[in-house]
Amino acid sequence: MAGFQSLPGFRDFYPEDFSRRQHIFRGWRTAATSFGFQEYDAPVLEPLELYKTKSGDEIEAQLFSFTDKGGREVSLRPEMTPTVCRMVGEKAGALKRPIKWFSIAEFYRYERAQKGRLRAFHQFNADIFGEAGPEAEIELIALLIQCLAGFGLTKDDFYVRLSDRDLWFFYLEALGFNDAQARSVLTAIDRYEKAGDDAFKVYTEAHGVMDADKKDRVLAFLRIKSLAELEAALAAFNSEKLTARLADWRKVIAGVSAMGLADFIAVDLSVVRGLAYYTGFVFEAFDRKGDLRALAGGGRYNDLVRKLGYADLPAVGFAIGDVTTGLLIEQRGLAPAHSTAPQVYVVIGGAAERTAAFGDIQALRAAGLRVEYPFKDLAFGKQFKAASDSGAKVALIYGGDEVAKGVVKLRDLADRSEREIPRDQAVATMRDLLRC
Ligand code: HAM
Repeated sequence: MAGFQSLPGFRDFYPEDFSRRQHIFRGWRTAATSFGFQEYDAPVLEPLELYKTKSGDEIEAQLFSFTDKGGREVSLRPEMTPTVCRMVGEKAGALKRPIKWFSIAEFYRYERAQKGRLRAFHQFNADIFGEAGPEAEIELIALLIQCLAGFGLTKDDFYVRLSDRDLWFFYLEALGFNDAQARSVLTAIDRYEKAGDDAFKVYTEAHGVMDADKKDRVLAFLRIKSLAELEAALAAFNSEKLTARLADWRKVIAGVSAMGLADFIAVDLSVVRGLAYYTGFVFEAFDRKGDLRALAGGGRYNDLVRKLGYADLPAVGFAIGDVTTGLLIEQRGLAPAHSTAPQVYVVIGGAAERTAAFGDIQALRAAGLRVEYPFKDLAFGKQFKAASDSGAKVALIYGGDEVAKGVVKLRDLADRSEREIPRDQAVATMRDLLRC
């Protein structure tokens, strides 16, 4: 094959693809700003150390990392969370709280390519720093829903599964698991949906076979699908920690419900998230049909800012990916038609008229109109065909007679009606006509 191909998992964005991508980014940005989040950006290349142990084994194994010419160990960013923690940590004292930030950026993970998973992809990240209470979760879950609902997706298209790592740890502690065992159980739960009972192998290897009664209780907890079931399961325990957690759960569910979004969320304790830093509520968004990989994921990570060497700052956030979001929008027929059509096509009689036309073209464009014209002198017939093929609403015709009279002929390309307008009124007339 001639030429070059892009690397596996990396995409070229031809204009049509780019316009779809922009539609997604625009939707996310609109949602975030309406929720009062502020946009930021950061470097694509970071010190490798930022991700080591902080992000977790899975991401660490997927890093695009190398040694730069100055001998530094560096990595392309696989996610935004450690970076945004560093940025907020650096200025924590000076930032007004709660800190509500968002970004839209590209990330790199050396993943096995599969549907919905690439090696370079975009994420919309939204995070709140400085709010320890579940009010931050309510705000972020509502934003996540709006980031998808804004495209016309409904509760029949996607939903958010809500779970809680704290609750799991308190529950496992109440069942008698120590901290190391509890961590192994959560790793098993993270894999249970895909691997079934095999998911518990890691636990067995590290801690021996799990007591059958305990395992039943773990599996029963994993299958909990409502707040009522959760309350019933915890009623037998007399644990202050569990009671306090339940109060937070009620707050989150009541808040999201009061926003009219109850149908978009599902209690699902099988979600525990693979990333290493999550500490409390965790959530993931999926398409209802279950055809696609996760649309979004996030949760609370109260220790990460401190672990990076900064102040103790509670944090919660999520990221949505552009790949699965794009697939879902397409599947549901919600992708907008790609249109870069000009509004005005300028038809030019010949070399002599081109000078007059150019002055007006520049003025029309400076006024914000989308204007096209042929680079070379062409017969009128060809230019009219090009004008209607272009999708423009109006053709402005600069023939020898018109230019001599100081007018321009305006043709409505839909009904083919024509009239003359003074050239010095071309911009005002076009603005009126095209309502801009
Ligand atoms: P994550 O679950 O690793 O979380 O990624 C979030 C979303 O990014 C996924 O649900 C998916 O849509 C998209 N994504 C991840 N990897 C790929 C890939 N290889 N190809 C295409 N899309 C992908 C995080 O990254 C956390 N840092 C989110 C977060 C923000 N937590 C707190 N704040």
